[in-house]
Amino acid sequence: MKKSTFKLAYKTLLTSAALATICLQGCVNTDEKVAVETVATGSSLKDAFKNNFHIGAALSKTQILDQEPGTLDLVAKQFNSLTAENEMKWELMQPIEGQYHYAVSDKLVEFSEKNDIFLVGHTLLWHHQTPKWVFENGKGEPASREVLLKRLETHINNVAGRYKGRIEAWDVVNEALNDDGTWRDSPWYRILGEDYIIKAFEFAAKAAPNAELYYNDYNLFKPEKRDATVKIVKSLQAKGLRIDAVGIQGHYGINYPDLNLLEDSIKAFGALGVKVMLTELDISVLPFPDSESQGADISIDLELQEKLNPFANGLSAEMSQALADNYVNLFKIFMRHEAVISRITFWGVNDAQTWRNDWPMKNRTDYPLLFDRNNQPKLAFDAVLNLAK
Ligand code: GLA
Repeated sequence: MKKSTFKLAYKTLLTSAALATICLQGCVNTDEKVAVETVATGSSLKDAFKNNFHIGAALSKTQILDQEPGTLDLVAKQFNSLTAENEMKWELMQPIEGQYHYAVSDKLVEFSEKNDIFLVGHTLLWHHQTPKWVFENGKGEPASREVLLKRLETHINNVAGRYKGRIEAWDVVNEALNDDGTWRDSPWYRILGEDYIIKAFEFAAKAAPNAELYYNDYNLFKPEKRDATVKIVKSLQAKGLRIDAVGIQGHYGINYPDLNLLEDSIKAFGALGVKVMLTELDISVLPFPDSESQGADISIDLELQEKLNPFANGLSAEMSQALADNYVNLFKIFMRHEAVISRITFWGVNDAQTWRNDWPMKNRTDYPLLFDRNNQPKLAFDAVLNLAK
């Protein structure tokens, strides 16, 4: 059947089903059918947007090790940029001082080189997923400034240095700010003060001279956080340090955030002469328990509540359409600013993998990505792809 016929059938189905809100299992099949056809005709995100920006995805360990059937083939076809979801974070690269684990990251580097994929290292400095020893002196007390700086430099030299010329970009610093624009009270900040960012960029520029260097954070649409990020970029530039882009993580929800605010941030960062990128895009279709959990503070883990897990048995046709519409609205903005936006990375390949299933509470069923639990493209995939034409 032709794609157009599929679409017509889909539309008829939507109307006649009167957009049932809570669907029984199987409702998702409607958009799967449309999408399967799309894939059969060979459409791919990376080709569709090749004149606009890189299209990326974050890969789990299972995926990197090719233990999830079909995923790496899909990845090679759909994406031209990759990020490790977890495998390059400090706790996995250097869990014990001086003991480095490169087996999984090596695989990702090889896969990316083989498939001509732009690889982003994530991340050199963060307050989460960093082992305690980094910040301690061996007696349970805080490490000294000198010791912590040395550890940071050594870590960056080893990790970024190992992949010099092979990993094209690094998220140098992740999440230094609170939503109100003040400094996050992390051990980095407590021990080193504000200039820890300066140091991290200095070390990264030496260890990986040809890699792009980024500052990455969530909720950057918030005006106070936007202004504080602008200040960080300017302070690096004033010191003659290289910062190539601001990464807007992009963990969003249905009709969230306010797109005008997001667009203002894209403009503000672009005006600094750096690139802008969406580095961890996903759109949760689930209700947020409270405004606290709209960002990406992974320490929140609330009790599972039935009413907050409405699509456990399948996504309603209505919500499937809303997800597609939300993606379309975002991509319209991205395309308007394609001169400064160089990459859109989804935080995951498929809905089975997404962290959103377990945050801010465990064991929910979310649908935030363009590919479903069987790696089949969804209605949202089709909608995004159509924008590129
Ligand atoms: C933040 C981090 C990512 C990831 C997500 C949640 O956005 O930058 O590495 O941990 O939270 O999965």
